[in-house]
Amino acid sequence: MNSMDPGKSAVPEPGVAPQPPRKPKKPWVIVKELSKRAHWRLRKHFLALDEADRLLRFGTVLPDELIIKYVEGIDFARDTVFGVYDSRLRLVGVGHLAFAPREQLPVLSAATSKERIAEFGVSVSASARGKGVGSKLFERAAIRCRNADIDTLYMHCLSSNKVMMHIAKKAGMEIQRDYGEADAYLRLPPANPASVLQEAVDEQVASFDYVFKANARAAVKWLESLSGFNKRD
Ligand SMILES: CC(C)(COP(=O)(O)OP(=O)(O)OC[C@H]1O[C@@H](n2cnc3c(N)ncnc32)[C@H](O)[C@@H]1OP(=O)(O)O)[C@@H](O)C(=O)NCCC(=O)NCCS
Repeated sequence: MNSMDPGKSAVPEPGVAPQPPRKPKKPWVIVKELSKRAHWRLRKHFLALDEADRLLRFGTVLPDELIIKYVEGIDFARDTVFGVYDSRLRLVGVGHLAFAPREQLPVLSAATSKERIAEFGVSVSASARGKGVGSKLFERAAIRCRNADIDTLYMHCLSSNKVMMHIAKKAGMEIQRDYGEADAYLRLPPANPASVLQEAVDEQVASFDYVFKANARAAVKWLESLSGFNKRD
């Protein structure tokens, strides 16, 4: 018996099957839909990705100029971009759900009868990985697709991308590998009142969270400016 924690015994009692070690609980991740106003923060997020991450995210090591072009070219009216902010309002996770007519993606045209298809790309800052941010962005994108009458969510990545492959398999995606690349598809059920409500609630929570963080940040800045002012006196 462990004298530090009498309630838990390291050695299982005779006749009791040993319990597998429990995974540490992941923090609550809040996903917010972004608008063009997040442009600078998006740029900062993508520019901070190193070469290996750029390769995994874009399929090629995009130089800074092309990253900036990519961010400037995001069509917020057509696509949906989701983000996860940290307490200092830095974007630590970004998911880009790009919508396109079915014909634009021949690999998918046989898989769906819907007019539009959706392709998802995601990146999480190195400091925020392993906390469920990528998975939560993916889940949120899947709900948006359902509610937008899209039945197939598509993702293209390198098959060497073990973390993304794990997330795709966990979500039940069908994966087709070819020459080091992988196409993953998730068949989605149609929207229902619960999926519509879930999305509305998620967005409300995310808006409160954003306003709270923005106010907290403004208050900190104000206090800092006061202390700087006092020091000058
Ligand atoms: C892929 C990426 C988005 C994942 O983000 P993340 O926030 O770390 O992901 P999560 O924390 O939600 O999930 C990570 C999962 O992978 C698992 N994992 C970690 N390393 C792994 C490995 N080497 N092999 C298999 N699974 C692994 C974790 O255990 C976790 O699984 P769990 O949820 O079942 O516990 C992030 O690593 C990233 O930005 N990579 C660079 C860009 C990229 O690859 N984008 C995807 C191409 S579209």
